[in-house]
Amino acid sequence: MTKKTATLNLHGKDYDLPVLEPTIGPEVIDIRKLYGEADVFTFDPGFTSTAACESTITYIDGDKGELLYRGYPIEQLADKSSYLETCYLLLYGDLPTGNQLKDFVQRVTMHTMVHEQMHYLYRGFRRDAHPMATLVGVVGAMSAFYHDSLDINDPWQREVAAIRLIAKLPTLAAMAYKYSIGQPFVYPRNDLTYAANFLHMCFSVPAEPYKVDPVLSKAMDLIFLLHADHEQNASTSTVRLAGSSGANPFACIAAGIACLWGPAHGGANQAALEMLRQIGTVDRIPEFVARAKDKNDPFRLMGFGHRVYKNFDPRAKVMKETADNVLGLLGIENNETLRVAKELERIALEDPYFVEKKLYPNVDFYSGIILEAIGFPTSMFTPIFALSRTVGWISQWKEMIGEKNQKIGRPRQLYVGPQKRDYIDLRHR
Ligand code: SDX
Repeated sequence: MTKKTATLNLHGKDYDLPVLEPTIGPEVIDIRKLYGEADVFTFDPGFTSTAACESTITYIDGDKGELLYRGYPIEQLADKSSYLETCYLLLYGDLPTGNQLKDFVQRVTMHTMVHEQMHYLYRGFRRDAHPMATLVGVVGAMSAFYHDSLDINDPWQREVAAIRLIAKLPTLAAMAYKYSIGQPFVYPRNDLTYAANFLHMCFSVPAEPYKVDPVLSKAMDLIFLLHADHEQNASTSTVRLAGSSGANPFACIAAGIACLWGPAHGGANQAALEMLRQIGTVDRIPEFVARAKDKNDPFRLMGFGHRVYKNFDPRAKVMKETADNVLGLLGIENNETLRVAKELERIALEDPYFVEKKLYPNVDFYSGIILEAIGFPTSMFTPIFALSRTVGWISQWKEMIGEKNQKIGRPRQLYVGPQKRDYIDLRHR
């Protein structure tokens, strides 16, 4: 089969650039040799038209509103799978057999405790620190404790680091929450499922027994699953870039947590619920929609819009159904926030501004309503996103580190600064 090429004509000279074929999705023009041959860079500051890597993990079709984890549609995984089974799928590429899943769950379960000395790290933070500030710190500090899983060139150490991160992030996030509310840390329990364990570590107190509500742990597990991975989003790209320098996996995941915190990214789940609360009632929606459309107003509808999805975010659809189910099962019928969210979605999706710009609710629009119903404060929404996404980050990191010709990521620039000029002595300035 003849190799496909794209021809670039520049200053009267033709450059033939290879076109690489995907399994599904857009072809890519391979420009790796362009600078060497034509002495030019390409320019794409927000990476709107740039494929930064080759990956087999997650595929998104923004026009169809399609999300596949290793080829499996997110709707089917949400309906039939579990978070830890999905972790296995993302990490190793296929759904596990019964024995493989049992062994994987056991390995994760046996790594949920953290080094006791890590408890003291929390004491260095103010109690009113945002749990994301604490989480960035303590996850980075894992590289000060787990020295036997720092060598990125040793496949076994890479595997151990991945299991430790998936297993310990819920414990560290729960500790950040407990510390922020002045309650004692709760140790993980090996007799609970992953999601039930997280709820137990967050909501149980030594003074009385705590029974995990199966409705809440199922909703929690689904929220973890829906956030597990999402192609080359900002925080995953951050983890890949940090990893490309050879930084240890704990430092790379801490970098991903830092990036996720931004309100344009994972911080949107907290911002979206706070926005819905600020709107308060259905009659105030038009005022906020007008602000979102006003170019002179920096206000945006949080939980709306997406760089890739120009149709419904499939995760938002599942999240919306789950919000209805969970609130119904909990008897929270007349939840004003959910009513405002649904009416805001209806009004926005009929408004030409949102229709023309293809702005739809994203994963962050409804998730906060469920998390609030489970009992979390808004400050815990992004830490929960971070612990859910850890498996995606570490799977993408392992894929990159495992590439035979892996190179450090080092973009160039369009320089528009001053021409070369000589220093001016102070007495002449
Ligand atoms: C996540 O990448 C991922 O996959 C991320 C994520 C994942 O799982 O990892 O899906 C998780 O981060 C979801 C997104 C959460 N963020 C928000 O909900 C914050 C609100 N949304 C936006 O800020 C925005 O939509 C982004 C950041 C999500 C996407 O930004 P883009 O792709 O750079 O688009 P843009 O800012 O260029 O917007 C295009 C136009 C602009 O208008 P014009 O300048 O063309 O006239 O749409 C407008 C924007 O002003 N617009 C909005 C809007 N989002 C975009 N207007 C009002 N409200 C909004 N929410």
